[in-house]
Amino acid sequence: MSKRLQFFIGFIFGAGLLLALHLRAKEAVTKDHMNESAIKVREEMISISKQLGVTCIYCHDTKNFRAATMPTWKTAFDHIRITKWLNEQGFRGHPKIDCFLCHRGQAKPNFKMEKSEPES
Ligand code: HEC
Ligand code: HEC
Repeated sequence: MSKRLQFFIGFIFGAGLLLALHLRAKEAVTKDHMNESAIKVREEMISISKQLGVTCIYCHDTKNFRAATMPTWKTAFDHIRITKWLNEQGFRGHPKIDCFLCHRGQAKPNFKMEKSEPES
């Protein structure tokens, strides 16, 4: 084998190795990123469950957490938006509110005023 050929083969191997390492590093970064957002979703889910006094199956078919089939899921989806809106456009970050503002540990918050007899 000529020196040039040896050098050439070495170069190809080296470049391939660098490329492989680069791709692996990139993959690790995206994986980390995905884990991070998955952890965030999980934390939020645990938090809203506590605030409503329910478990995951109240809103999810556990076979597919992405499914938007349950009516409670749909209501929760809207209420997540309501809560976000209240924080950003309503209270403008002060105070910072969440589901607990209305739900107080119950899935169906008691929001109706007690009926009072008109004073005579
Ligand atoms: C009160 C209803 C409710 C409860 C309880 C609830 N979730 Fe969710 N979950 C939702 C809604 C609504 C979304 C969609 C949120 C969005 O897209 O903004 C969601 C999204 C998710 C996702 C993301 C799915 C995707 O599209 O990638 C996961 C995973 C998840 N929930 C897991 C859980 C787990 C685990 C629990 C229990 C600790 C839980 N949820 C409790 C309503 C609920
Ligand atoms: C501004 C007040 C308010 C906030 C904030 C709020 N909710 Fe609600 N939520 C309600 C009211 C009122 C109902 C209706 C109760 C009824 O029908 O008796 C309700 C009902 C629901 C229901 C349906 C319960 C059932 O069994 O039918 C779900 C699920 C729900 N909310 C999820 C959430 C989640 C999750 C959050 C926080 C991200 C949230 N809500 C924040 C007021 C609120």
